[in-house]
Order: sequence, then structure tokens, then C-alpha cells
Amino acid sequence: MDLVDSKGRRVPKGVKIGSGGEGVVYEVPTLGNDIVAKVYHQPVSVVKQAKLQAMVAVGNDKLRKIAAWPMETLHTTGDKQLRGFLMPKLTDFEPIHHLYSPSHRKQRFPDKNWAFLVYAARNVAAAFEAIHSHGHVIGDVNPNLVFVTGNSIVKLIDCDSFQIVVNGKFYLCEVGVPHFTPPELQKLPSFRGVRRTRNHDNFGLALLLFHILLMGRHPFSGVFAGQGDMPLEKSIAEFRYAFGRNSAAKGMRPPPNSMTPEMLPAVIAGLFERAFTEPGAHPEGRPQAKDWVVALDALKSQLFSCTHNPVHKYFAGLVSCPWCVQEQGSGNFFFIALNTGAVGQSGFNVESVWAKILLIDTPGPVPEININGLQIKVKPLPPALRRGKISIMQKKQAAVGLVLGSLVFAPKLLLIALAVAGYLFFSKPKDFAERQARQAALTIAKQHLAVLQKQWQLEAGSGSFQTKFNELQSLKTAYENWADLLHLEKEKLHQNLYDAQLQKFLNNFFLESFNIPGVGAARKVILASFGIETAADVTLEKVVRIKGFGDDLAREIVGWRKGLEKRFLFDASKGVDPADVAAVNQRFALQRKQSEASLLAGPEDLRQLRGQILQKRAEFLPVMQGAYQRVLQAEADLAVFEVEA
Ligand SMILES: Nc1ncnc2c1ncn2[C@@H]1O[C@H](COP(=O)(O)OP(=O)(O)O)[C@@H](O)[C@H]1O
Ligand SMILES: [Mg+2]
Repeated sequence: MDLVDSKGRRVPKGVKIGSGGEGVVYEVPTLGNDIVAKVYHQPVSVVKQAKLQAMVAVGNDKLRKIAAWPMETLHTTGDKQLRGFLMPKLTDFEPIHHLYSPSHRKQRFPDKNWAFLVYAARNVAAAFEAIHSHGHVIGDVNPNLVFVTGNSIVKLIDCDSFQIVVNGKFYLCEVGVPHFTPPELQKLPSFRGVRRTRNHDNFGLALLLFHILLMGRHPFSGVFAGQGDMPLEKSIAEFRYAFGRNSAAKGMRPPPNSMTPEMLPAVIAGLFERAFTEPGAHPEGRPQAKDWVVALDALKSQLFSCTHNPVHKYFAGLVSCPWCVQEQGSGNFFFIALNTGAVGQSGFNVESVWAKILLIDTPGPVPEININGLQIKVKPLPPALRRGKISIMQKKQAAVGLVLGSLVFAPKLLLIALAVAGYLFFSKPKDFAERQARQAALTIAKQHLAVLQKQWQLEAGSGSFQTKFNELQSLKTAYENWADLLHLEKEKLHQNLYDAQLQKFLNNFFLESFNIPGVGAARKVILASFGIETAADVTLEKVVRIKGFGDDLAREIVGWRKGLEKRFLFDASKGVDPADVAAVNQRFALQRKQSEASLLAGPEDLRQLRGQILQKRAEFLPVMQGAYQRVLQAEADLAVFEVEA
């Protein structure tokens, strides 16, 4: 089929570069490298012809900058029927899901870290903002519509499916993808005749941004606590946002080992909350594209490089690096550093650094506290207590004497004697209150001293110095055995050659691009949420653990993997993948650089710790002496009773 543009100029088709449900996209070499043609499979309806003509008419630079906006219609040569259009070509662009899916990203964007994801997310929001500010709506928001380059430039394709408004006339978008459709539209039987709103787009936008920022997870795919299955579309329709503040009340929680909105600024977590919960479904209820641009621009200037691993970028408001936590907790390495430059050839000499470390004296053990010179002045008893004082012992002796005496000399007076003796025996002595007060003072002084003694050991002891010294010593030992450890690690690569090759082979097969009976698009999204993207990720245990995947489905998926395994041919001549060797070298180089830095800082760190400890001792000594003094004083004050009695 030969085509001409609206002015009748011939536009010969070149190489086919893509195709979809509605059309095929071709290069058009006579028009240069920056333009392509989309040619429809079928003749186009009258309404669609009018829509394309309107789109060409309202096109402008701002739209063409962020979208493959139609530039010119294409027609058959004979009856001039509209059969396609010209648009800007996307070169070196990848669909956004190749960026946000962790497995795809390692292959397509291997050198990109989270900062890049934030930039890309910001540009996705800006592209939506440009469409919305012209009064148009995307409608069929889905991951195959948004494309991104290695410079984080974002462009939208398939513009002819957008909902376009020109001079008050609506050209509808009558298609959609279920797992990107907002809750309020989930129950519709079809999109035929449905007017989409910006607020609907803003649901799809928030979904895309969530995927980009949080490792390709779908916010409505989680672990369902209730009875039975929770298909993705149902979860969306019922606002069961699995990462939300009220997710527990909705019977949902995030899949294991997920990155969660807690790693984001509270403002952004709040935007997601609003986009995915009931208030968002109200007219204009969801955050708009421009709100996201503002929030993500702010985040761009609040990114921090992890001190342990510079490929880890994260929001500076967090206390610790979420990627380190993820790597240590679940062994998930989301970002890989490709080139860290040469390290270790810094002229670092471990022996000479160690000699400097040994020069720093330890602060020695905690000093004894001298209590000999402490001045104690006994507090005398109040005069009222001192005069005619009878001790408790004397009173008790008198009571016993009285009873015995009456028994022997005057048995008839025994009852009276018993009463008097009882009084003498049990009545509280006159000094009771004073004695109690002094006893209490002693107890308090002793407790206070006990607390201080512990603090003294802790802060004035040489513990922190010793710990640092031991740490440096083990770094030194590891540093000296570096070559052996590295060698061992590389040996392992040779031993695991078969497994590594198989794993790599399986990693090329994405579930997404295979038809597995019973595993539709929504189930594939759920699998991805549980970290299963390629055949290499598939194991029976992993699949059966996901709710809604019974034994039969799990067997089907594992069968798919087994089928692929059969096609695997081990190639012993290939040897170890240089990328794997590079990864080991890189990990070691990084650790080595960190060890060198720690050892170099060692002498100064030790000197500072020693200084701190000595200073603490000087400050603390008078406090300790005071505490001892108070105990001795209280003891002496109490002893008065025994001495004077
Ligand atoms: N402007 C473009 N530049 C380069 N490739 C494109 C462009 N537009 C579309 N493609 C390629 O063609 C494919 C089909 O395009 P699309 O517009 O989605 O077709 P359909 O509407 O038939 O689904 C896309 O997935 C993409 O690979
Ligand atoms: Mg289309």
C-alpha cells in the first residue's frame, strides 16, 4: 500500500520498527531519521479520522517534546483514505517497565541507581502535566505507553488513543488495561462511550510512580489475610492498598522483602496514600501531575549517597540506608556498581599505619577512688533525744525484769506488770523517727553511688578504646589476607560455573512475554510483586507461597521453567563471565578502600577516644568522691545511735 501525506507527497515506508493492536510503525527514510509512520491495520472510522486531523491541528512543540504526537496524516494514493500518520521517532528509548522491573533494569539500565529512578519519575509526572495542561487526558495509562532514555528523558507513545478535547469536542479513549484502571472504573463492562477524567489518569500516574520508586511493585498486590483469593482487579476495586496506613484494616500487607513508602519523604508517602484510597476517587481527589513534579523535584535535592556503598542513593531524611538494610535482610541487590575505578593502588602501607596505631597509649584501667581524705562531720542527735536516753535494749531488759520480778515477788500484780512490760516492749522509742530518717538517707546515698559506679565503669573505663583497637586489629588481619580471600572467591566462580550459566540463561526469559495457561497479565503483576520476573526466579516453594496460586498453577509455572532448562546447553569453553569476576573485584575493592580509610583514621580515632576517656575521668572524679562521701556521712550519722546509746 503506497501512502501520501495530506499535500499529496509520496511517503515510502522503510523498515518496520514496531507493531501493536492497531497498527504497524515504520521508518520513513525519505523524511529523515527523526520521523516515523504509524499505519493502521484496518481502515479508520470517520470519528478517528476527525480525531487525527484535530490532533495534527492542535499539535505544538511542547506536546511533541514529551509525546509522539501526530504531525501529519497519511492517506492512500487512490481514494485518499486516511490510513496513518507521521510522528516524531523515539530513538534509544525503552518502555518504562524495563526501567522499574529490577530484573530488566539490570540488563537494560545496568548503571542506573535510585537517583536516576527519581529523575525518571519526575519526568513521567511532567509529561502527564503537559498533556493535562492542554486539556487532554491519556485514558489508557499503561507501562507500554511511557518510554524513557538513559538520560531520563520521558516520552509518551500511542497518542492516537488519548482522549482529546478540541474546541469543546471530545474524542474519547475507549480502551484500558485492568490492572491500571482506577477503582471507580473497575466495574464498567467496557470503556465504550466513557468520558475519562484527569483524576482517572492521576490514578495510573501514581501507579507508575509507585512502580518506579519502589522496585516495580504494584501497590494493590500484597499478602491478603482474609479467606480465599484476592485478584488484583478486586483488590483495586476495594481500595486494598497493601502499603497504606490502613492496610491492616483492609486485610493487606506488603509482600515479603518489599521496599515500602516509609523510605520516601512523608509528603510523597502521603500523595500515594491519597491516590490509592477512597478520598482519591472523589472528583479531583488524587494528587495531580504538577503536585508530583513539585514533590519529586524536592526529593531530587534531598538525595544522599550511602557511605558504605556509593551506588546506594536514598532520601537524606532516613537514619540509615534502606538498600543496605534490604541487602543484609533479604540478599536483594537492587543496584550494581559497574566501575569504581582503580582502588588499592593508593600506596597504602598497612605495616606503617599499624605502627602508628601501636604508638597510641591506652588510657589504662579505671582508676581507684581515694576515700581516705574525705571529711566527715557527724550530725549530733537533737538535744531532746540525747537527754535521759534509754536504749531499746534497756527498755526490753526492763520489761523482762518487771515481769520476772512480779512473778517472784508479787504474783498478784502480774496483770499490771504485764501491761506495763507490754508497753515498754512494743512502744516505739522516742528516737524512732530520727533513726528512720537517717536510715533512709543511707539507703538513698548507697543507691546513688551504685548508679554512679556503673556509669563510671562505662564512661571512664577503657572499653570504647579497646573495642576500637580490636576492630582495627581485625581489619588489619583481613587486609593482610586479602589476596587469599579474593582468590577463594574467584575459585568459587569457577566451581559454580554451571549454575551461573544456567541462571543467566534463565534470566533472559521474562514471564511477561510468555503465554502460560492460567497466568494472565494480573497474575504476572502479582508474581513480579513477589520478586518472580524471570524463569531464574521460579521455584515451587516461592510460587505456592503466594495466595491465589494453587498447586496446579504453581506446577504449570515450574513446568515452564523446566521446559526452558531443557533448552539450556552448558558451554564449558565460555569460562567464567567477566562481569561476575568484575563484580567480585569490585566488591573487594570497595571493602578494601573502606578498610584503608578506617585504618588510616585509626591513630586519630584512638587518640580522640583516649582523650575523651581521660577527660571524663577528670570531670567525673569529684562527682564520685561526693557520692562516696555522702555514703560515709550517712553511715556515720546512723552510727551515732549505737555509740551514744
Ligand atoms: N514514535 C515512535 N518511535 C519509535 N517507535 C515507536 C513509536 N511509536 C510506537 N513505536 C513502536 O511501535 C509499537 C506499537 O506502537 P503503538 O502506538 O503502541 O501501537 P498500537 O496502538 O497499535 O498498540 C510500540 O510498542 C513501539 O515499540
Ligand atoms: Mg493504540
